[in-house]
Amino acid sequence: MDFTVLKMIHVTTAVVSYALFFVRGIWMINGSPRLGERWARIVPHANDTLLLAAAIWMTILTHQYPGTHAWLTAKLTALLFYIGLGTVALKRGKTRRTRITAWLGSQAVFFYIVAVALTRNPLPWY
Ligand code: HEM
Repeated sequence: MDFTVLKMIHVTTAVVSYALFFVRGIWMINGSPRLGERWARIVPHANDTLLLAAAIWMTILTHQYPGTHAWLTAKLTALLFYIGLGTVALKRGKTRRTRITAWLGSQAVFFYIVAVALTRNPLPWY
């Protein structure tokens, strides 16, 4: 598949991933039953799988890999934190306070990933 198309899929699914995570966080805060709806459990996972598949495909096409290129190592590591904190926020967090803190932390990690992607630098603020 063409690199431009893959990048479009990657960026679009990244935006969708954030939007779905944000909305589910609002539902978590409001105690809305919508959080438990079937689609709300399936669609985000399908979208994130596509996001990662496009990422892996692009790393192969550009011969840039986590472990070799620092910015991709940083992105992949941060992605694990994004997923971990996201799970605490929407599922595992014992108290509302813990879940909201994890939800905010997860968003900070997301924007760090975007900054790393745009600058190709693991320390994008330098
Ligand atoms: C939530 C997770 C992620 C987000 C929000 C994200 C975001 C982005 C964005 C916004 C771009 C476009 C940058 C630009 O326009 O120059 C991009 C490009 C890219 N991302 Fe991701 N990304 C994520 C995860 C990953 C992962 C896990 C990998 C691989 C380990 C990866 C590999 C790449 C590659 C190879 C490019 C293309 C860079 C190029 O143009 O050469 N991304 N990403």
